[in-house]
Amino acid sequence: MDVPSLCIGNIKIDPPILQAPMAGFTNAAFREVVRQFGGVGLLATEMVNARGFVWMDQNVAEHPDRLWGVAEEARPLAVQIWDNDPETMAKVGSRLVEEYRVSIVDINFGCPVRQVTEKAHSGSYLLREPSRMSKIISRLVEACSPTPVTAKIRLGCSRDHINCNEIARVVEEAGAAALTVHGRTAQDMFKGHADWERISEIKSHLRQIPLIGNGDLDSAEKVVHAFSNYRVDGVMIARACLGRPWLFAQAEAALKGTPIPAEPTLQEQRDVMLNHYRLVVERFGEEKGTVLMRKYACCYAQGKRGARFFRTHVARVATADEFYQVVRDFFPQDDPQES
Ligand SMILES: Cc1cc2nc3c(=O)[nH]c(=O)nc-3n(C[C@H](O)[C@H](O)[C@H](O)COP(=O)(O)O)c2cc1C
Repeated sequence: MDVPSLCIGNIKIDPPILQAPMAGFTNAAFREVVRQFGGVGLLATEMVNARGFVWMDQNVAEHPDRLWGVAEEARPLAVQIWDNDPETMAKVGSRLVEEYRVSIVDINFGCPVRQVTEKAHSGSYLLREPSRMSKIISRLVEACSPTPVTAKIRLGCSRDHINCNEIARVVEEAGAAALTVHGRTAQDMFKGHADWERISEIKSHLRQIPLIGNGDLDSAEKVVHAFSNYRVDGVMIARACLGRPWLFAQAEAALKGTPIPAEPTLQEQRDVMLNHYRLVVERFGEEKGTVLMRKYACCYAQGKRGARFFRTHVARVATADEFYQVVRDFFPQDDPQES
């Protein structure tokens, strides 16, 4: 198939396959691992709370840990922020553009977690307040110009209140440069399937800006299917890339009609995971890095024989030696410390 071309503002996203923001996961170490395989047109940070950024800036002269690596790493890179106050968002947006020189500022209007919705009236909570969404976007666009501002939404707050078509118009009119839609409602959380028909329908409510579809893409074939069957300009992958960062390269090949790289061998996967571990420990030290790595390691093991055994054991590792021992038991070919 012809590979669709995707531009967000003046930034070319090639291939039109995006790595989704995932809180607690898509930090600089993970992004580095993804970049090593390629096949991804745009990477994104975890969501950063704008109010928290301002508070840290004023009180401890530090910026959130979630901005680790952002200033230095390869571009294009999107930083995602969330809050419900247009001025705070604008303030943080302009700092991200001026100090961090980010490629794109993305706004989270999709998070369904109570702490963000009920407590902070942000994330997907704002889907019920299109006029506030509009203010947030337009202030941010003004503050970040010419850096593009994008929005990530769900279909609506609940199945009884799906308003993504209306929201799409609001997002575009407020000046956003692209819209990403996760094809579930906030109430769905991760239940059921992403509704790609609904995502596709949104296209006719947008005049110019690209539509990026997201939800349940876990194979190269599904990526091709999404482009062939739904009116999207780009696709975004989240959960499936956590344990398979090579998925983007496979999806790109499938889109371009070139041979799809084989799934890495168990040995190669082990090396990817160990490289990931090194990056995490380099940043956080052995103690914190090992604890942090537990959840990534579970992702790498997912779907493999013995994964439950691995999960149980890796969930308790506290030192590098313990981590290597569990890896050795699960990936028994060689001594992982030697690689
Ligand atoms: C652990 C986790 C953390 C997430 N954090 C964010 C986030 O920070 N910002 C955001 O917009 N979406 C976040 N999401 C949602 C994903 O970006 C994506 O929309 C969703 O997982 C559906 O895509 P998938 O089916 O490919 O996983 C998160 C999802 C998961 C599983």
